[in-house]
Amino acid sequence: MTKRVYLIGFMGSGKSTMGRWLADTMKDWSFIDLDTFIENKYHQTIPDIFAEKGEDGFRKMEAACLKEVSSFENVIVGAGGGTPCFFDNMEVMNETGLTIYLQLTPQDTYDRLQTSKNPRPLIDGMEGQKLVDFITQKLSERESFYKKAQIIADAKNWEVKDYIKLIGK
Ligand code: S3P
Repeated sequence: MTKRVYLIGFMGSGKSTMGRWLADTMKDWSFIDLDTFIENKYHQTIPDIFAEKGEDGFRKMEAACLKEVSSFENVIVGAGGGTPCFFDNMEVMNETGLTIYLQLTPQDTYDRLQTSKNPRPLIDGMEGQKLVDFITQKLSERESFYKKAQIIADAKNWEVKDYIKLIGK
């Protein structure tokens, strides 16, 4: 029985929402949002980390925090959108738990980002076609990493029960 489930996918794909629902359904499991874990550990918001240390600095902190949570038990971890694409993060996740890629089209990702209020430095100030183009481009760069996941979920249609069936609880 797996002790960790990692939800990966682009910003806005629903990792945190689904992660919380899953942890609520799976008795004695908890949800860890990797961004929130980073913010709590370093006492700084994600936008402040990007502003002060740049993306490179953020990625190092993110990888260190991922290693830390990869030893926790009975956790659903919501990774950041870029987590699988840096260092050996994808291998760490695949070796220590079940990885699920929440796949969405660029247009569905765009639609979901419209209703999300999380501050995201990479898309700060972007809207309309510029944001659709950015998502399309970034997603095509990132898909080969995301597709290393053990399971690919249709994030638009899958419900909690579909994930639970695969997790084996
Ligand atoms: C990022 C996604 C964010 C956060 C950071 C960078 C990315 O997480 O880690 O802003 O590179 O896609 P969410 O996917 O939870 O928004």
